Amino acid sequence: MDAEAIAIQEEMPPVVEATKTVKKVKEPVKSQEDSIMELPGVGAATAEKLISSGYDDLMSIGVATPGQLVAVSGVTESTARKIIKSARDSLDMGFISGTDVMAKRDAVLKITTGVPAFDEMLGGGFETGCITECFGQYGSGKTQIAHVLAVNTLIAHPDSTIIYIDTENTFRPERITQFAKANKLDPDETLAHIKVAKAYNTDHQMLLAEKVEELIKKGDDVKLVIVDSLTAHFRAEFVGRGTLAERQQKLNKHMHVLSKIADMYNLSVYVTNQVMSKPDQFFGDPTEAIGGHIVGHNSTFRIYLRRGKKGTRVAKLIDAPNMPDAECVFNVVEGGLEEA
Ligand SMILES: Nc1ncnc2c1ncn2[C@@H]1O[C@H](COP(=O)(O)OP(=O)(O)O)[C@@H](O)[C@H]1O
Ligand SMILES: [Mg+2]
Repeated sequence: MDAEAIAIQEEMPPVVEATKTVKKVKEPVKSQEDSIMELPGVGAATAEKLISSGYDDLMSIGVATPGQLVAVSGVTESTARKIIKSARDSLDMGFISGTDVMAKRDAVLKITTGVPAFDEMLGGGFETGCITECFGQYGSGKTQIAHVLAVNTLIAHPDSTIIYIDTENTFRPERITQFAKANKLDPDETLAHIKVAKAYNTDHQMLLAEKVEELIKKGDDVKLVIVDSLTAHFRAEFVGRGTLAERQQKLNKHMHVLSKIADMYNLSVYVTNQVMSKPDQFFGDPTEAIGGHIVGHNSTFRIYLRRGKKGTRVAKLIDAPNMPDAECVFNVVEGGLEEA
């Protein structure tokens, strides 16, 4: 193992550390408990009943119906109404103006792929504030794009942190070093800004995604979170039709966490996804993305990657909110991605 590999390994939070983290996160939960106790008509006993029934934060109470709260906590209907109103008031739930939405859009950063046509297809690059998904067959370039984005983010934001959740053991510090050198960056410095964690199963992967917020609160300026691959563990752990619903539910929860941090902290989330073959497909592409609607609906940008002619890669934009469907062709080279 070379020096970079060792350096990066030290950055990897081992499983135990991630487990310890869960205990630490309990503290904010306690303050949620306190804020539930502050609601009118809620004493310790009622708070406990609400929390144990899953109404453990103001949001879940704010969106509940009076009947639901009556059923789980035994308060009167009029108290339930007061509790809900008060939860809603303190949450500031409601609409924001189009102007505010525009201001939020103005804050969006775009991470370059290094390929003008690729960036243009996405309206300037990989956006912050949302999830971008690349799906495609093995070897289509999903992991290469992840490495390139990490380095390109650090070119634009040298003090930022990149999080790389690696589920298939495909993170390669050597590749980061090559991309850094091609861009005249110091490879060691670049590697030091990339925090890599191997995820050993779906639970661990989900936990690592939740841990990102903690790193941000401790002062890391996280601009890019990579989950490579988003679906591999889910696919391996949930086999057979009977488990599909459970898998989709878990995957949905995982993507909600990713989408929430993307939005709250204006960072870009890049996830990779595999495809499975559709043997009954006679025309067009005989593959489809894993995770189906759940992944599709949670990704703001979806890109289908495939091998093109003469070793090129073709990226096709599917389902983007304000961009037309389009395609571009590029090459993966030693120093990064290049227009073909
Ligand atoms: N150093 C390199 N120089 C040029 N091409 C490379 C290099 N390393 C990897 N590649 C290309 O990237 C491909 C692997 O792509 P990868 O992103 O790992 O695929 P996926 O993650 O979609 O399975 C290789 O088959 C090769 O074509
Ligand atoms: Mg890969």
